[in-house]
Amino acid sequence: MDFINRILKKNRARAEYIKFQEQYFFQNISSRQTPECLWIGCSDSRVPPTIIAGSEPGELFVHRNIGNVVLQTDINCMSVIEYAVCVLKIEHIIVCGHYNCGAVQAVFDDKADGLVGNWLNTIRDIKQKHNVFLNKVRDISQRSDKLSELNVIEQVYNVCNTPSVKKTWEQGRKLEVHGLIYNVHNGLFKDLKVGVTCQHGISEIYRSAIFYST
Ligand code: CO
Repeated sequence: MDFINRILKKNRARAEYIKFQEQYFFQNISSRQTPECLWIGCSDSRVPPTIIAGSEPGELFVHRNIGNVVLQTDINCMSVIEYAVCVLKIEHIIVCGHYNCGAVQAVFDDKADGLVGNWLNTIRDIKQKHNVFLNKVRDISQRSDKLSELNVIEQVYNVCNTPSVKKTWEQGRKLEVHGLIYNVHNGLFKDLKVGVTCQHGISEIYRSAIFYST
């Protein structure tokens, strides 16, 4: 029970601190949420979105999974995107990968088995797609980090092709999709220049981002 007691103690201390800093914080935030951004990131414990993005509670609507993957067949991810853009009317979606990603490394090491191994097939396919380029990168960790970048670009492309995102653009509503990579060595983001603002831009921006990255 020590672990749970530690969590409860830290939670009480945090709530007290927030109330001390801003008396009506919880009253203000409890009625409804109006986040401006959907964040799709990796489950890795070193990349908590709200903290690395310097955001406050209420600012980011979050979906995380192993390897920040966006699959049309993943009802969880598709529901999150649909709710974010159709109900919350979010105007920005960020796909954020990170360097030193265990999911990406597992694809190179051919290590993951069971369900995770199955889940990583998407990243395995991306590695296969860009194999010629990746094999030219001599340094092993740089090769893995490059695949992390390519994975983000591919997942941005997948986000842009989801029914709810396409519908939002068809209705003429503002929606921007961005791709970032987080450097766990220095805590900084790199913009992968794959920002998409409408249906027509997808292919061109995807191609130039892949070109820029490779
Ligand atoms: Co990761």
